[in-house]
Amino acid sequence: MSKTATDDSPVLSAVAEKDIGSAVAVAGHPIHAMAVHFPIALAVATLGADVFYWWSADPFWLRAGLWAAGFAFWTAVGASAVGTLELLLVPGIRARAASWTHAIAAMMFVSIIGLNWGLRLADPDAVLPLGLALSALGAVFTGLAGWHGGKLILHHGVGIMVSDDE
Ligand code: HEM
Repeated sequence: MSKTATDDSPVLSAVAEKDIGSAVAVAGHPIHAMAVHFPIALAVATLGADVFYWWSADPFWLRAGLWAAGFAFWTAVGASAVGTLELLLVPGIRARAASWTHAIAAMMFVSIIGLNWGLRLADPDAVLPLGLALSALGAVFTGLAGWHGGKLILHHGVGIMVSDDE
């Protein structure tokens, strides 16, 4: 079998020995992984609503963007609270640099989508061009946060439950 970086480094093997099971899960399914789909989809929907408003000038898309941004923000706050619990409670998650990279990208995303929602509440006319620009930036950061979150599960095996069931 080939040698891995973990075989050579005492620091990496100490990290590899720590628990990476989810601490906030239902029947072994991490709640954070189930919750993140909502802010991701709603942030992309906000960008879609803004593009349709830009294209059609129909005020329906202003209202749709306001609601999508608000729900994207509050569902992201909820998902982030659960993600933060995982980060603080599980030693193997806390010890991995990838977890902190994901958390920083996620916090950037939450800040952008929160600003985007607040801007629309205060001044609906600010959607073009500032709201649209924030929606595009939010979509980029949801991608970055989602990519790094996926790495935690797919590359590091965080929260994976190997079942004896067939
Ligand atoms: C400070 C905030 C956050 C922290 C500390 C955090 C932490 C984590 C952790 C520990 C995991 C591994 C799975 C688990 O143990 O539950 C994870 C997965 C993931 N996170 Fe976050 N997270 C945060 C916010 C977010 C946000 C706002 C998003 C949405 C953009 C997000 C998207 C993801 C995705 C897509 C996964 C992989 C889920 C899957 O593949 O099923 N996270 N996160």
